[in-house]
Amino acid sequence: MDFALDAPHEQLRTLARRVAAEALAPRAAAYDREQRFPLEQMAALAERGFLTMLVPKVAGGSGHGSVAYALAMMEMAEACAATSVTMAVTNMVGDAIRAWGSDYLQNKYIPSLHDGRFTAGAFALSEPGAGSDASSLKATAVRKGDRYVLNGNKCWITSGDRAGVILVMAKTDPAAGSKGISAFLVEPEMAGFSVGRHEEKMGIRASSTVTINLEDVEVPVENRVGDEGVGFKIAMRALDGGRIGIGAQAVGIGRAALKAAVEYVGTTPGRADRASVRARLAEMSAELEAARLLVMRAADMKDRGIPFTKQASMAKMFATEAANRATHRALEIVGPDAVDARQAVERFFRDVRVTMIYEGTSEVQRVVIARQVLAEVQ
Ligand code: CAA
Repeated sequence: MDFALDAPHEQLRTLARRVAAEALAPRAAAYDREQRFPLEQMAALAERGFLTMLVPKVAGGSGHGSVAYALAMMEMAEACAATSVTMAVTNMVGDAIRAWGSDYLQNKYIPSLHDGRFTAGAFALSEPGAGSDASSLKATAVRKGDRYVLNGNKCWITSGDRAGVILVMAKTDPAAGSKGISAFLVEPEMAGFSVGRHEEKMGIRASSTVTINLEDVEVPVENRVGDEGVGFKIAMRALDGGRIGIGAQAVGIGRAALKAAVEYVGTTPGRADRASVRARLAEMSAELEAARLLVMRAADMKDRGIPFTKQASMAKMFATEAANRATHRALEIVGPDAVDARQAVERFFRDVRVTMIYEGTSEVQRVVIARQVLAEVQ
């Protein structure tokens, strides 16, 4: 067993750290304040191949794999959580197209996700009445000759107004439950596609979260991803991988909070001697290290082709909850007087909250883990 990174992963992490420091960190606080979409940051990520890390080079991606992706997500999230979630969803969509899309779809969409012609990719599963209970979604896709006609409303869609391509889940057989769901690649230029409300969020304010309306959107049959009826499986598989990314994002945000707290303690006379401060720092660093190991383990399993659903959910549940505790403790350490440090930690505290919600709430992760654990003993 070797816990050290190999040379290619070390190099990749160094590159990610540099891109994060140069292109993301200097803009993060202002973009958060202004709720300004990180356009230049996404261009910088595309330039370095960070938007298709999970897609092999032969399929048009940068072919880094899941361990590298988790490392990069940690670095990007430490610098700017809002950019990192935009990156995460784009990578998830590319991964799903690679895994389930025809050669035609891979050739059509992956190059534009890779080189930044598409600012981002988006994933449209959730609906106003179907969040955690995703299979109860109501959007429909009715086949008419060589097209499907899509109708429905999707909500909380990251980059839904910025994406060049959106992976949309809709029911082709509404009576068949989760087995009646199919997946489609929708382009924002398609007639009947429109963006509705922009969410006013507590955290990750520079990322874009919108509702999407589909009104008689005609999608060519070739844009169906996989067979009819496998859309729920595609979404769940995509989310398995996505949860590694969000776990990594949480580790990155938690680490930013820990660093801010350590810096404050190190530069404020007398603070480092307080037992309560030391105890908090110890807990934060131990929990974030455990979280990092869980994330890396799930990512490694994915790279090796070993089923990793349980490990991804464990990593997401533990990392997002540990990072929430870490930002909370960092706020307690920094206190009200150190204005600069407090403002930075406040942003981390606001940004980290949603990691326990999107790509499956902590409660959903417990459902997934418990099912697998129970199945293992039967
Ligand atoms: N991989 C492959 N197949 C899977 C799977 C997985 N991980 N999980 C379930 N399936 C399959 C099952 O095997 C089953 O198929 P069979 O009947 O053939 O065996 C089918 O899917 C239905 O599975 P379940 O009975 O488990 O489905 P369920 O309705 O009970 O749902 C759930 C389970 C885990 C709660 C699921 O609904 C879920 O994950 N909900 C959360 C949704 C979510 O994470 N949304 C995030 C939105 S996207 C987002 O946030 C992105 C962003 O913008 C940041």
